[in-house]
Formats: sequence, C-alpha cells, structure tokens
Amino acid sequence: MSVAVIIPAAGSGSRFGGEIPKQFRLLGGKPILQLVVERFLAHERVSRIVVAVAEMLVDEAKQTDRVKFVAGGATRQQSVTNALASVGDVELVAVHDAVRPFFTYGTFDALLAAAAEHGAAFPGVPVTDTIHLVRDDRIVQTPDRPALVAAQTPQCFRAAILRDVLTRAAGDDATDEAGLAARFGHEVRVVPGDPTNFKITRPEDLAMAERMLEEA
Ligand code: CTP
Ligand code: MG
Repeated sequence: MSVAVIIPAAGSGSRFGGEIPKQFRLLGGKPILQLVVERFLAHERVSRIVVAVAEMLVDEAKQTDRVKFVAGGATRQQSVTNALASVGDVELVAVHDAVRPFFTYGTFDALLAAAAEHGAAFPGVPVTDTIHLVRDDRIVQTPDRPALVAAQTPQCFRAAILRDVLTRAAGDDATDEAGLAARFGHEVRVVPGDPTNFKITRPEDLAMAERMLEEA
C-alpha cells in the first residue's frame, strides 16, 4: 500500500524557547527537521512527504517531487489538517512530529502493518511515573499505571480514517490523531514504542539528543 508522511513543523516551540523554533535547531550539524525528512525519504515505501511550516517559510522552501511544504495552522491539529489536503491519492498516512529524530524503521514498519490491518496504530511506551488527574491542586483520580501508555509518533492511519476524524474534529486542538480516531469509534492499535524516540521539547532534550548521536 502506498504511504505518505505528514510532518507538522509549524510550531513555535514555546517550551523550548530561543530565537528560532526548535525544529530548525541543529542536531549533529543539521536542522532536526531535515534529519527527520531525510530518514523518511530513505524509506522505500514512502512516496510523498508533506511538511507543514509557518506560512512565511513556504515560499523559500525547496519543493521537490517527493517533499512538499504547505502552510501550517494555529494548532498542531490544524497543521496536520492542512498537510492532509496535499498528500494526494495514497492508502496509508503517517503523522510524525518534526522533533522526534530517533524513530526507527522497525517501529514504523510495524505501525504501517497494523494500520493496514486495523485502520489506525500508534507507538506507545509504558509510563514510569504514577500519573494523577488533578483539578484545583487536588487529585481527582489515579488511573491504574499498567493501563497507561505515553503516545509517540509516527501514528499511522488508513487515509480515509484520518480524513474522517480530522473533518469531524475540525476546530478542536487535539495533541494527537490516535486519540481522535478512538474518540470517533475507530479501532486504534498500540504498537510498542521506544523511549529513545522522545520528543525534543526543552533544551535539555536537545542536549540529550546530541549525546546520543555522539555515542552512536
Ligand atoms: N506544530 C505544528 N503547528 C502548530 C503547533 C505545533 O505543526 N501550530 C508541530 C510542532 O512544530 C512539532 C509538533 O507539532 O513538530 C509537536 O508539537 P510540540 O512539541 O508541542 O511543538 P511546539 O508546539 O512548537 O512547542 P510548544 O508546545 O512548546 O510551544
Ligand atoms: Mg505544542
């Protein structure tokens, strides 16, 4: 089945801070977004990559047959929705954060297979901290830890399912599409993720990513 990849890269990186958004910071001498795009380009099943970036960057981006840049939106969900309009006629779509440079082909292939079979799949890692639901500085609920997983990307979908849920959730601000797919009644499979596929969120995450490259 044909595969397209959507990379939302239009965020401002407010938790990371600094002058330039974190997805353009260098890791091993290259912008993080470029590392991610190159890793998907090297995968034989990926026919097209659509990257959502800040509108002012679209004109200066280098469009190619396989890599297209479109304007993102005010939320991650809107950026993914904008990119989805340009994936073309594909059967499977993966959505991957621009700032997770360490995803593996092993996980990606497992996710594509699970999405082809069941409709939707995401990489999940067990949480190690106890997670409390808190309101007004008080614990309201403590979910059973073994039942919790932290959601990573790439999240993979049959294209029709991703289109369906993004249309139905238009205007919302969901942080991932797997949750949306589940919300609208689709079966969503969890595939084992990998703790090294962390999201670069704060400066210390980039420092750790640099150390991982040096040790590799
Ligand atoms: N993203 C996007 N469009 C937005 C917001 C986020 O394409 N309007 C992208 C980010 O560029 C990133 C991914 O969604 O690749 C995951 O989001 P996150 O890590 O939260 O990045 P930011 O939103 O940029 O960071 P912060 O939440 O700290 O501001
Ligand atoms: Mg964000």
